[in-house]
Amino acid sequence: MNITNIAVLVSGRGSNLQSIIDNIENGTIPHASVKVVISDVDGTYALERAKQHGIEAVFVDPGTFDNKEGFENAILLILAAHDIELVLLAGYMRVVGPTLLTPYKGRMINIHPALLPSFPGLHGQQQAYDHGVKVSGCTVHFVEEGVDTGPIIIQHCVLVLENDTVDMLADRILEQEHRIFPEAVRLFVQGKLSIEGRKVRITD
Ligand code: GRF
Repeated sequence: MNITNIAVLVSGRGSNLQSIIDNIENGTIPHASVKVVISDVDGTYALERAKQHGIEAVFVDPGTFDNKEGFENAILLILAAHDIELVLLAGYMRVVGPTLLTPYKGRMINIHPALLPSFPGLHGQQQAYDHGVKVSGCTVHFVEEGVDTGPIIIQHCVLVLENDTVDMLADRILEQEHRIFPEAVRLFVQGKLSIEGRKVRITD
């Protein structure tokens, strides 16, 4: 079986990146390899994690481009150089534009810390907590135009407990993110996902 070459786009600490790397290294995600980690923020811990695992780590400085198209074209060149088939957004804090999305439509996956379609955008955990929901969770979905709108692959519920702070809730959600993101990647790599309109069919 062919190896699926993966790129991970990040902006921060990279705990979800770590969960993907670990699940590839321990064989839970077979026939896959993270070839490159790209950050739009310099000096992120996510880049450090990549280096620790011998993975190429690249900072692409958005400030050096005239517009988003130029920035995304620079990322595309890196993806092409590594023969990337699957792009993961793991705490990547930018909205992906058409330049980057079009060639990777159906091959770009994001993790979001709330039960979509509720609470898209920034700080999903905080939004849910402030709204007073009793159940929140996390969502892995294909990326589309629009913020956190694409077809949903896996969701997991997390109860909001009576004495939770938002940080306590976010920690429990993060634990589940580290389970469902690698699981979605495994399903993709094994060819078990198909998109039919808004629905993702899983044949596992
Ligand atoms: C996660 O909560 C993820 O759902 C959101 O950004 C956060 C990234 O955390 N998109 P990390 O960098 O993976 O630790």
